[in-house]
Amino acid sequence: MTNSENTPNVISLTNTTTPALLLDRDRLEANAQRLARRVGMLGGVLRPHVKTHKCVDIARVVQSAGHTRGITVSTLREAEHFFDNGFGDIFYAVGISPNKFDQARRLIAKGCVLSVTLDSPEMAQQLATYGTNAGITFPTIIELDTDGHRSGVDPEGDALLEIGRLLHELDGVELRGVMTHAGESYHCDSAEALLAMARLERDRTVAAAKRLREASLPCPIVSIGSTPTAFAIDDLGGVTEVRAGVYAIFDLVMANIGVCTPDDIAFSVLVTVTGHQRSKNWIITDGGWMALSRDRGTASQRVDYGYGAVMDVRGNRLPLLMTGANQEHGIISPATADERIDYSAYPLGSQLRVLPNHACATAAQYDTMTVIEQGTPTGVWKKISGW
Ligand SMILES: Cc1ncc(COP(=O)(O)O)c(C=O)c1O
Repeated sequence: MTNSENTPNVISLTNTTTPALLLDRDRLEANAQRLARRVGMLGGVLRPHVKTHKCVDIARVVQSAGHTRGITVSTLREAEHFFDNGFGDIFYAVGISPNKFDQARRLIAKGCVLSVTLDSPEMAQQLATYGTNAGITFPTIIELDTDGHRSGVDPEGDALLEIGRLLHELDGVELRGVMTHAGESYHCDSAEALLAMARLERDRTVAAAKRLREASLPCPIVSIGSTPTAFAIDDLGGVTEVRAGVYAIFDLVMANIGVCTPDDIAFSVLVTVTGHQRSKNWIITDGGWMALSRDRGTASQRVDYGYGAVMDVRGNRLPLLMTGANQEHGIISPATADERIDYSAYPLGSQLRVLPNHACATAAQYDTMTVIEQGTPTGVWKKISGW
């Protein structure tokens, strides 16, 4: 079963309602292959994160690049949707809470190999009680905080062993291993800093797995990953899987970190020129923050791309940036302050494409994307949203 809509007529960008999400399939395939090759070369396996795109067709392209096992999800809605579309091995990598136990139970009862994560003895106990009463066993992975980024237990602290023992000894739960996400890698912008962060993520996770095993607790899964550290790591000894997601699409934040260039970014937003504010040296479009998101992730980085970098409709970069965003209005200005816009090049009604700062946040606004192959629109792929 495919998720694509096979549109009978030739798809034309000119007739597409804007703003619209575009996917450059050639870039997607190249991106997917690049990390698959790298992880494969290190003898590792990827568990791709689908949170960036939430699209079954994209996940299939990523899977076909090889060196993958299962998927990672950020919502149980993703888990349900991907399971219904043939993905049977799923890791829900956001800390579980009691209001989600039943949703997770239903998936497991349907035959999904679903692992969940948590980082407290209290949640381990509550999950175990629920699982015992429901007659189900939840495969559970302990979340580690290896870089101070957000959730997780200290890999060297007492809580790790306490949670490990509860998950091993109580009914209704099963200890499957440890995981971490080095989100602080998004603040690195040199190869040295990225390598140091990647080694820290790996070393602290592998050491936590060793502590569990030395305490006679099982730890078959040792799961690490973020896109920047997945590219930087030089040895995957002791690691059983690498989770990364945005690498399939990339975005301007990743370009600033140095893991891709703007020309690798596979998502863009098609917008229409709706106004010329000549005295202000602006172009107005119908793509505001609803279309691109409010994410200004590049504001604190090497290059501030405003709300996005602008391309022509064929995907060639232009010396323009989206510098302002109202709900349904985008403001486009020259990338260099002393340039004047040549308005004859951007007539009213013409189209532009905007590369996103943060692919996940931008894609979240859309239910479908138009697929472009070798410059030509070839189909429409569906995606999901919500929890
Ligand atoms: C738990 C977890 N694993 C993996 C990833 C993938 O990281 P990236 O988006 O850098 O590829 C994320 C991203 O937020 C995450 O939260």
